[in-house]
Amino acid sequence: MSHAPRTAEEVRRRRTFAIISHPDAGKTTLTEKLLLFSGAIQIAGSVKARKASRHATSDWMEIEKQRGISVASSVMQMQYREHVINLLDTPGHKDFSEDTYRVLTAVDSALMVIDAANGVEAQTRRLIEVCRQRDTPIITFVNKMDREVRDPLDILDEVERELGMPCVPMTWPVGQGKSFGGIINLRTQAMTVFESGSERRPQDFESIPVSDRATLQARFGSEFDTAMDSMELATGASPAFDREAFLAGKQTPVFFGSGVNNFGVMEVLDALVDLAPSPKARTSALNGVTKDVQPEDDAFSGVVFKVQANMDANHRDRIAFVRVASGQYQPGMKLKVQRTAKELRPTSVVTFMSQRREAVEEAYAGDIVGFTTHGGVQLGDTITDGSVALQYTGLPFFAPELFMTVVLKNPLRTKQLQQGLAQLGEEGAIQVFKPEMGGNMLLGAVGQLQFEVVQHRLKSEYDADVRLEGCQYTGARWITADTPAELKAFCDAYPQRLARDAADTLAYLCTSPYDVRLAQERFPKIHFHPLREHAGLALEQH
Ligand code: G4P
Repeated sequence: MSHAPRTAEEVRRRRTFAIISHPDAGKTTLTEKLLLFSGAIQIAGSVKARKASRHATSDWMEIEKQRGISVASSVMQMQYREHVINLLDTPGHKDFSEDTYRVLTAVDSALMVIDAANGVEAQTRRLIEVCRQRDTPIITFVNKMDREVRDPLDILDEVERELGMPCVPMTWPVGQGKSFGGIINLRTQAMTVFESGSERRPQDFESIPVSDRATLQARFGSEFDTAMDSMELATGASPAFDREAFLAGKQTPVFFGSGVNNFGVMEVLDALVDLAPSPKARTSALNGVTKDVQPEDDAFSGVVFKVQANMDANHRDRIAFVRVASGQYQPGMKLKVQRTAKELRPTSVVTFMSQRREAVEEAYAGDIVGFTTHGGVQLGDTITDGSVALQYTGLPFFAPELFMTVVLKNPLRTKQLQQGLAQLGEEGAIQVFKPEMGGNMLLGAVGQLQFEVVQHRLKSEYDADVRLEGCQYTGARWITADTPAELKAFCDAYPQRLARDAADTLAYLCTSPYDVRLAQERFPKIHFHPLREHAGLALEQH
């Protein structure tokens, strides 16, 4: 395959990353500052205002009205130091859903924001797991140093334990809270002096070389000495920064700062350019042929990692979010969906420039393109220009943690309900399980809001009014066996616990983690999978 030099250059300048954090750690604030300092937005407050409007309302009708906004806000592109940076949001709070996880399959690195007072919190932990599975490089930003927070050594220790990889401090805080003096940049050996306020540009903070010890001691007193001591301890205990190890997901560079005060933010933006990786080869597996597709390859290809219903329910429009994997996208080019071999004719194609949606002029590997279609695209689909046959791997479906039984209020609407569930299942809005023994359909989710959304959409888009009832299940595992006989023996033992999902994959439903353990002990040769891939692909072995 030939490589266009232009494409190679465009790939080299791209950085595509997701911000992961627990709610309130400061993700929105940091996102806004990154956009502001890269010049993508002019005034602070707009990302924030949007977040507020999203959370001020708990009414799903209202949320739906905002949907166009949240579509646009989930992907933001900015240019900085001759680089194109694509930032993908991972929604938290009530919005937490499987989409949150899947966003991580579309990025090449992650920026983890933690609140220095709280350390690594629950929601971050779940996202970290996904990053770890994929060896995604993680940059860590320890936020809110202007508050009374934990000792930095303590925080590093916790991050190391949670990530299961060494932390390499790149900046080090001097004091905290009221006595927060600033950060020492370990590479430049200079201290950037903290000042509070949100007006200052990052480059306007005063910088004093560490070699000017007398000045620093005079100004920051014992805080400075303490910081130097703890910095020495931290660097002594951690390996030197090794870019290869970072890129392999084996160590994380750590930065300290205060997003709301614009402090320590530029260091993160620079790290994204200097340290984070550009798009890499992606694996395609089709008809037994596995190959790595290079981002510089001529043929355009990409993978659908998110499908979102559009604003207008009557038109059944969907936006397929495609992460470009290779080649160049140009307006008007022919597009083919690998799974169906059909041509895709989107009604519009958009890119996500900070907050506006704009018609795409060109896109390269790492970029996210939104195709508006009337259907024909599923989550996990590979889209190409038709010159190659590819099916990318790696889009995960996670075993749900929350289950509800669907009860249709008017039995005459069964057909509509089935159609609705099939389509919403394809979109990845929810997972649908049909019990083998019959009975009501089950919905599985990882976030509570997924149920509300599906219930509302079944009514408004499919005219199927349903009631959702709690049920005893708390987990599911997809089941495979080495031989049909083993599978049959297992199915005979647990007929009441079996269900098939939208891709017709067999699953075992459980009511507690012990269930799986007991079943595994009884049937040691059965494989229980906590995640599966896009329909038609082999299950990952665990
Ligand atoms: P999120 O997206 O991760 O949920 O967090 P967000 O940025 O909305 O920040 C959560 C709260 O933390 C906000 O306060 C924000 O101002 C504050 N915050 C963010 N970064 C820093 C920091 O470096 N230092 C301090 N002290 N606070 C920080 P809020 O009261 O919820 O909102 P607001 O009224 O201040 O906007």
